[in-house]
Amino acid sequence: MSFPDVRLRRLRQSPAVRGLVRETSLEPRQLVLPLFVREGITEAAPIGSMPGVAQHSLDSLRTVATEAAEAGVGGVMLFGVPAVRDAQGSGADDPKGILNLATEVLAAEVGDALVVQTDLCLDEFTDHGHCGVLAADGSVDNDATLERYTSMALAQARAGSQLLGLSGMMDGQVGVIRKALDAEGFTDTLLLAYAAKYASAFYGPFREAVDSQLTGDRRTYQLDPGNRREGVREAVVDEEEGADIVMVKPAMAFLDVLREVRDTVHIPVWAYQVSGEYAMIEAAAANGWIDRRASVLESLLSIRRAGADVVLTYWATEAARWLRG
Ligand code: PBG
Repeated sequence: MSFPDVRLRRLRQSPAVRGLVRETSLEPRQLVLPLFVREGITEAAPIGSMPGVAQHSLDSLRTVATEAAEAGVGGVMLFGVPAVRDAQGSGADDPKGILNLATEVLAAEVGDALVVQTDLCLDEFTDHGHCGVLAADGSVDNDATLERYTSMALAQARAGSQLLGLSGMMDGQVGVIRKALDAEGFTDTLLLAYAAKYASAFYGPFREAVDSQLTGDRRTYQLDPGNRREGVREAVVDEEEGADIVMVKPAMAFLDVLREVRDTVHIPVWAYQVSGEYAMIEAAAANGWIDRRASVLESLLSIRRAGADVVLTYWATEAARWLRG
């Protein structure tokens, strides 16, 4: 009796063998924790649609960033929620604006232990909620927005951000910001370009997290979910413009894009497991429908397997602790 000749199960026979042949690794250093800091609060304020995630005060921000560093997480990505907004998003490049203040605090507190990163986009700072400034006809003005981004980039670099997350999806943002940073001597400030950022329904809970003022949608600047080639093209253009890293976002609904981007560019590729992905797993786990820890780790492993070198995830600290056992 010699059938079957090929026995694939040989590689799955024990934890030790499986461990030896596992193709994809997941390590704390490959995780980045997004954090929200809100102006004018003194205690963390929970976000209802993201159980376990909160808008932070400067104090509670320091605490969670320190916990992330202690767990071995590779970086934190800061988002600001200002008390006042206007059409230009003036709080974004004000050195005393909440995001820049928080960056200074974290650079001093955990800047040696992990990479302090900042989201570079206007949507949290504008009263209309768009990622750029508006032209007279109400459309998002690409080139006028680039001027605002440049000023924001310099403010963030001065505050001590080591990596700028360019998430606004304006054409030319990488090249223009790189040039401006270099001219001011910030040649070491890293640029993460949200190359393939899709106009996604999975950002829902994030809008609560930043008290978004948006009415309408972002379909004139974020990618159409039906387009894979266009996502790859965005990544190629961003690499040419000088991006150090490119991002695919969201992660789980765009794993095919992630794989193709990984196979196309020659720089690190990151993926953002967004608020809606987090909320879905938390909600199913809270109902007892899936095993929370196993689902979280499987989701992260899948994103790594599809090609992400690093994953931005709201579970970063907790997952890092699990991984360290
Ligand atoms: C925009 C921005 C968004 C997210 C990160 N940056 C939302 C959007 O484009 O509407 C979403 C992140 C998430 O859902 O977790 N600056």
